[in-house]
Amino acid sequence: MMTISDQEFSDLRNLIHMRFGIKLTEQKRSFLVGRLQKLMRKLSLDTFSQYYQYLTEEKNEAALGELVDLISTNHTYFNREKDHFEYFIDIALPTVAEKLKRENLRDLRVWCAGRSSGEEPYTLLILMMEYFGPEYSSWDTGILATGISDRALTVARSAAYGSERVQQLPEYLSRKDYTPAGPGEMAVTEKVKLEATFRRFNLMNTSFSFKKPFQIIFCRNVMIYFDQPTRDALVNRHHQFNEPAYYLFIGHSETLGRSQTRYKYLQSALYKREEH
Ligand SMILES: C[S@@+](CC[C@H](N)C(=O)[O-])C[C@H]1O[C@@H](n2cnc3c(N)ncnc32)[C@H](O)[C@@H]1O
Repeated sequence: MMTISDQEFSDLRNLIHMRFGIKLTEQKRSFLVGRLQKLMRKLSLDTFSQYYQYLTEEKNEAALGELVDLISTNHTYFNREKDHFEYFIDIALPTVAEKLKRENLRDLRVWCAGRSSGEEPYTLLILMMEYFGPEYSSWDTGILATGISDRALTVARSAAYGSERVQQLPEYLSRKDYTPAGPGEMAVTEKVKLEATFRRFNLMNTSFSFKKPFQIIFCRNVMIYFDQPTRDALVNRHHQFNEPAYYLFIGHSETLGRSQTRYKYLQSALYKREEH
């Protein structure tokens, strides 16, 4: 096993905390070394100081994505925590769409933050298209799907998944919105794919520069890695870009904490932004 000096471990730990909100304890030292050595060999880097330099050179976001892939997981699947998708199509979408219609507006903005390999944003899009039917094209909508991992992004862009994974969707949807893509693979149809806008975006960025707030934000199973101050700061930024009276979905094992009084609890891992 490669050796890491105290200084090198401390530098990497600080960087990981600053850029990802993840606090590695002293006990994670050998975990970090174990995870990094293969990557460092691939990059022909001999010491952790060289790796640190590689990471910090010219704000190397792609390298940061590679690092986060090693210390966290991209685990996700279609229709994960499915009561959220039921709420999305039965209540959230109709509530937002009806209000917009009454105001003669047609811009419905949905943000999937922490999109991993795309199963979550594609599930949302398929449901949106199902909900609006032929009317969908008259709406200025789609999904902004952001994340930090390039490896996961490549899968999301290909939109091809093992056919057993597609079966996690209700049958009537998987039949319509998927086409065979290769041996044992199905791909999301072009029509659905075109509605997803993928961007690399680190949720640790202290300023979110979106033009308009989102009526619906999905940020699920991302904050699990963050320490409490990082979570609180992120929820504050979400609050700023969540349209009043609308929805924030987080992961079922996550909570907003008692201090977040600006969100009203609706049901497990689902909140509504207060009006003010
Ligand atoms: C476990 S997956 C969750 C995917 C999906 N939201 C779900 O619930 O199934 C967590 C994702 O969050 C991403 N992630 C972790 N830290 C992040 C950060 N600081 N900014 C953006 N994405 C991050 C990871 O790369 C990973 O793809």
